[in-house]
Amino acid sequence: MLNFGRARNQARAARSMALGGMDYADTKRKGNFVGKIFLAAAFTALCIIMIKRSPSLTTPSPFSIREPGVTHVLVTGGAGFIGSHAVLRLLRDSYRVTIVDNLSRGNLGAIRVLQDLFPQPGRLQFIYADLGDKNSVDKIFSENKFDAVMHFAAVAYVGESTLDPLKYYHNITSNTLLVLESIAKYDVKKLIYSSTCATYGEPEKMPITEETPQVPINPYGKAKKMAEDIILDFSKKSDMAVMILRYFNVIGSDPEGRLGEAPRPELREHGRISGACFDAARNIIPGLKVRGTDYKTADGTCVRDYIDVTDLVDAHVKALEKAQTGKVGIYNVGTGKGSSVKEFVDACKKATGVNIKVEFLPRRPGDYAEVYSDPTKSRLELNWTAQYTLEDSLKMAWRWQKSHRDGYGALTAVL
Ligand SMILES: NC(=O)c1ccc[n+]([C@@H]2O[C@H](COP(=O)([O-])OP(=O)(O)OC[C@H]3O[C@@H](n4cnc5c(N)ncnc54)[C@H](O)[C@@H]3O)[C@@H](O)[C@H]2O)c1
Repeated sequence: MLNFGRARNQARAARSMALGGMDYADTKRKGNFVGKIFLAAAFTALCIIMIKRSPSLTTPSPFSIREPGVTHVLVTGGAGFIGSHAVLRLLRDSYRVTIVDNLSRGNLGAIRVLQDLFPQPGRLQFIYADLGDKNSVDKIFSENKFDAVMHFAAVAYVGESTLDPLKYYHNITSNTLLVLESIAKYDVKKLIYSSTCATYGEPEKMPITEETPQVPINPYGKAKKMAEDIILDFSKKSDMAVMILRYFNVIGSDPEGRLGEAPRPELREHGRISGACFDAARNIIPGLKVRGTDYKTADGTCVRDYIDVTDLVDAHVKALEKAQTGKVGIYNVGTGKGSSVKEFVDACKKATGVNIKVEFLPRRPGDYAEVYSDPTKSRLELNWTAQYTLEDSLKMAWRWQKSHRDGYGALTAVL
């Protein structure tokens, strides 16, 4: 073993020998020694004062501790359309919220709105991170104490999923697995998972109940179904409370006009019918293309179940409250009423006051004729029912669209 102590003593001895016999040298050494001790003491005292004064070092972040009476929810994808509305509702209901989003599809503007509404410390934090990065996900869970996770983050366009299936399996299935691993490792008690009616595919019988067989027909639906299966298998070995919510077609925006739907312009081509209607009403596109008029439906156009985003987040909060340790709940979140594309366009014309030009084209491959939910189970077990009509919902969405011509980019006056 090397004896460092002895070597040091020897060196010191050598130094003193070189100075030996000279009194002044000895006195100077003593003075240096006292001075060094004094300096060290002063420095230590200064450090202690600084540490005591620094709030970040004395007080742990409220997000990193469990506080009795406070439920801390991790909202993945909280910068997106549905996630931001969920955060608004959670904050209004006194939850503590952490948003994790990589802003690949969401809007920083939505987070700014939420931060302005809830600026108090310990209410809302935003973490910019990609859920595909295992180390980042682990770090987020290790540094924060979550009571529940609402996992919204996902790429979510059926058309895009057929063009780039691997992106969908990676972003939806694989990222859910990573989130779940951290949920397990850090013992988070509740998970509310955003699933979709696309996991049912094209069932023969309508309306769709939670018992309807899941036979997804596109990569988006398949990736979500796989994520559901992973969650269900894990839940068998854990006491985590799980709620899987299968949404139908989500529309609308915050009734008070603070948040709305603002997808990236480059995603327009994959976009949803409400976005296309509003774009047509604002003359961003020349008109609306309705694909397929020969389906076996009352007016020949496809039928969908349009659920308002405020109603949808209400179902999430109810699911969060009702989630039970070691149990799984699976719920359809829809109105139970199908509306045809023609009916949707008429409602949109009414809501916007614009006589939107409509072009009728042949069917788009992969579209199913009719999809609408049976929301009985949600009503009975979650005490949840959709409140907004299609027209109400479109009116609210239009109000936001009119006042946010560039999405969250630049606010313009309400017309
Ligand atoms: N909008 C609908 O009609 C609908 C219907 C059924 C289910 N859903 C589901 O609801 C959820 C939310 O959908 P939305 O319409 O709000 O979509 P959105 O695109 O507006 O929001 C998704 C958010 O997730 C974020 N995100 C994506 N990948 C990420 C990653 N790897 N790491 C971190 N953040 C990431 C995006 O930046 C975005 O902010 C999705 O899971 C979607 O599948 C939506």
